[in-house]
Amino acid sequence: MAHDLPGVPVPDLGHIHAQLTQPALGSRRLGWMALGADGAPFGVAGLRVFTSPGQQHLAEVELHVDPAYRRRGTGSLLLAAAVAACRSENRRSLIAAAPADGPAEAFSARWGFRRALTVDHCTLRFDEIDEAGLLQMADAQHPGYRLAGWTGTVTDELADAFAAAKNAMNDMPLGEMDYGSVAWDADRVRAMAKVVADRGDALLTIAAVQHDGTMAGYTEILLPQGSGPRAQQYDTAVVPAHRGQGLGLWVKAAMVRRLRAEYPDVVEIETDNAEDNVHMLAVNHALGFRSYRRTRELQLGLPLV
Ligand SMILES: CC(C)(COP(=O)(O)OP(=O)(O)OC[C@H]1O[C@@H](n2cnc3c(N)ncnc32)[C@H](O)[C@@H]1OP(=O)(O)O)[C@@H](O)C(=O)NCCC(=O)NCCS
Repeated sequence: MAHDLPGVPVPDLGHIHAQLTQPALGSRRLGWMALGADGAPFGVAGLRVFTSPGQQHLAEVELHVDPAYRRRGTGSLLLAAAVAACRSENRRSLIAAAPADGPAEAFSARWGFRRALTVDHCTLRFDEIDEAGLLQMADAQHPGYRLAGWTGTVTDELADAFAAAKNAMNDMPLGEMDYGSVAWDADRVRAMAKVVADRGDALLTIAAVQHDGTMAGYTEILLPQGSGPRAQQYDTAVVPAHRGQGLGLWVKAAMVRRLRAEYPDVVEIETDNAEDNVHMLAVNHALGFRSYRRTRELQLGLPLV
């Protein structure tokens, strides 16, 4: 990963261990390793098999071959194993994310994947923030709405409202991705928080809530292993009926302020958005996020046999 994703923090052992032992919500994980005659590994593949209703047609593959061992057919062998597993799991779509314009794009084109989406990755470095501008955005008046924030599992009184707001993510632009959609309820929201906590990560949320308890929008930040220099943006969503009032910018600005106050080790946030998600990109640019790399979401249709 250090070779292929310069500038992206390489996950440490604890992170990899958590990834292997704590599958993401609504999925199972299969894995393969390519080993040399001496038993040393030089390639790995992981397959996320989605299990939630609405996504049972889908699997996601991740492949890594040591740069010193490439162009010898290893990636192809690992992919063949993953595709065979997709067949036995009755999957019709296999997706993968790859750095734009790198070897993985050529590799995936060779095997019939097509580009479904280009994703723009941006970072916001805290030492480059316009302080006055940030405070103005975080303290903006939004009559009828208040901010609510929590860490980990949502409070019981906001759980149903949060699940309803999460369903607003289902209209996120996904290009030609056959991603399906999942319905959120309070139990699923709690289950997701538990998966994150069991992995050792911290999930911070800030929401805009109306006085009757309706949630109009929210933003989530993940702190890998509870802290570290780079925070990862998870969802940001504003429910359609509440869009166009600056609530997305408000909750995100409030989150930046909270991170800076409560987590002094965090120096930047990374976020990724579909290249055509103009509203989210506009919010991010207003906050000071800058593009630094692109990835592609690739998709392979698997004929069902
Ligand atoms: C993508 C990756 C797994 C390919 O592994 P690999 O073992 O080199 O792949 P293979 O040897 O099986 O390549 C099969 C074919 O793919 C194509 N291909 C692979 N790498 C290529 C490159 N750098 N340029 C052009 N074509 C390429 C070729 O057609 C190749 O056949 P050929 O060597 O006979 O011409 C490897 O480059 C990698 O680990 N990349 C970084 C991690 C990554 O981005 N993973 C994708 C996330 S899913």
